[in-house]
Amino acid sequence: MAHLLLVDDDPEALEWLSEFAKAEGFTVSQADSLRAARIHMSRLQPDVLLTDLQLPDGKGVELVNDLETRDSTEVVLITGHASVESAVEALRLGASDYLVKPVDMERLKAILRRVPRTGELRAEIGELRDELRRLGRFGHILGSSAPMQKLYDQLGRVAPTSATVLLTGESGTGKELAAQTIHDMSRRKKSPFLPLNCGAVSPQLIESELFGHEKGSFTGADRQHKGYFERAHGGTLFLDEITEMPQELQVKLLRVLESGTFTRVGTTSPISADVRVLAATNRSPESAVSDGKLREDLYHRLNVFPISMPPLRERGTDIELLAEHFLDLLNKQESSAKKFAPATIAALYAHSWPGNVRELKNYVQRAFILADDIIDSNLAPTVVAQPDSAPLLSVRVGTTLDEVSRRLIEATLAECGSKRKAADMLGISLKTLYNRLAAYKNEDGEEEEQERHAA
Ligand SMILES: Nc1ncnc2c1ncn2[C@@H]1O[C@H](COP(=O)(O)OP(=O)(O)OP(=O)(O)O)[C@@H](O)[C@H]1O
Ligand SMILES: [Mg+2]
Repeated sequence: MAHLLLVDDDPEALEWLSEFAKAEGFTVSQADSLRAARIHMSRLQPDVLLTDLQLPDGKGVELVNDLETRDSTEVVLITGHASVESAVEALRLGASDYLVKPVDMERLKAILRRVPRTGELRAEIGELRDELRRLGRFGHILGSSAPMQKLYDQLGRVAPTSATVLLTGESGTGKELAAQTIHDMSRRKKSPFLPLNCGAVSPQLIESELFGHEKGSFTGADRQHKGYFERAHGGTLFLDEITEMPQELQVKLLRVLESGTFTRVGTTSPISADVRVLAATNRSPESAVSDGKLREDLYHRLNVFPISMPPLRERGTDIELLAEHFLDLLNKQESSAKKFAPATIAALYAHSWPGNVRELKNYVQRAFILADDIIDSNLAPTVVAQPDSAPLLSVRVGTTLDEVSRRLIEATLAECGSKRKAADMLGISLKTLYNRLAAYKNEDGEEEEQERHAA
């Protein structure tokens, strides 16, 4: 039977938590201070250490240092409402999970049920990491450069916990791949992994996409609809382009993250959500906060465990490794044996890869089709530099950011003539571009409508 040490200075909390843990099949000892906890630990190493953060004689996390072997005890920390920083610190020090007060019974139950597995999972990941490191990959992520080794460490550490992760990095660096990997290496792997691109759903629909709606809750809602949160139950929700989420919805998302419950549009009864949230953005989240695109409170809540994906140009020999990998795949598919000329490899290193791994993958595909046997340097990647002749856009100080982005989007589109190219140049996804254009159309429609009424 697994043993749990419970540390809390609130006698009531000690009592109910202890009853709860016993009902889950643990033997339990209780301590009301760090000192008392240390005495217990010297007698019997617990399999689970469930501790309050604030104790009369110090912080619960300090107990991590008293564990004989870090790997065989799972540390779960209970933090007060506003202590995201301490939760981050706890995870950094090796806590495997944390709960926010008031402790939600369903969450605690979920944690206790999987806690005995976390140790195994961590050991498995550790082995996997060492093994894969030799091969220059981690799950489906390829690369053996130093920044990637650091990334694998972070992914391996955070995957088995339920921490929220904020993935940042330029377009095409593998944020979605990393999110999928975190899911695959967690105990949620058998439940769904659902990606939602917040920039691709119209602002009017995103709330009902996320939380679902009841029949008749708005025009067009002709039947009940389960949202992403419900469908991802037990699994992971990947909120891509989080800065594109409308502000009102960011408030609601924050509430869900803090309370673990949500309500369908058109209802008031809360539904509990056992969903791990991973979010990503290819903008700097700090500047998104200062531009008013990302709410600061949500940013702090998401940023419990930040991971930044290194750009390809800083990944040294990974460029060649990835290029050869993508070429191998194509050679296998087409039963061919095409090769890169040495000069082409050199050109790959010289290129700056603004579109990162996605650009490299597309490049290899294109070059593969165009080449006979050898991919010669005439097929080396070319820079699509911003032409000096591109027209200038002038804006008067005092113009709103929304207006500026609209004018820039329209001007870029007119210049490129292709939505794909315009999106690349603007550094946004094609879906986001479509979404914006649809919104502008709507706005114009409304204006015309008003004018017609006025006339
Ligand atoms: N390290 C890697 N190893 C192998 N494939 C990779 C790696 N990184 C990215 N890829 C591949 O590159 C493509 C782009 O990756 P992904 O969609 O995860 O990027 P992203 O950071 O989410 O981009 P965006 O910001 O544009 O959404 C995918 O096909 C992915 O499988
Ligand atoms: Mg992506």
